[in-house]
Amino acid sequence: MLPESKIIGGDARSRAMLLSALYIAQEQYGWLSPEAIQRVADRLNLRPGQVYSTASFYTMFRMQPQGQYRIQVCEGLSCYLVGGAEPFLDHLIKTLNIQPGETTPDGKFTLEVVQCLAACDYAPAIKVNDELYGDITFERLDELLAELAAK
Ligand code: FES
Repeated sequence: MLPESKIIGGDARSRAMLLSALYIAQEQYGWLSPEAIQRVADRLNLRPGQVYSTASFYTMFRMQPQGQYRIQVCEGLSCYLVGGAEPFLDHLIKTLNIQPGETTPDGKFTLEVVQCLAACDYAPAIKVNDELYGDITFERLDELLAELAAK
């Protein structure tokens, strides 16, 4: 019988550090490119396929190139109950001319739909990169888009 490290790949310490290493790599590269996956695998003595399968399991990891501003629209229950996601999502789709999961051609905005931003008290909520915006309105959303587009 093979020891566990031969079956799964890497030792227990490497596997324990994997999520933190992926998070750091994502911060450095902006997304988990094949190069980033390979570097994490090399550093932790894990197989690239093992690193990729772990990264792709978690929604917090970005497996595709992202725009400068990643806009997440919440379609969770609390936001839904206050009329949230669909109208804002439709507005963003029309304004940015992209669908969820896409990035604007200028690389400025990526649009995503998520289930909950852990800001239910402030529904409807959206998130731009690491910044949370609660009690969002169409006016505030348009102001925000204009501010970000001007940067
Ligand atoms: S359901 Fe929208 S923030 Fe929780």
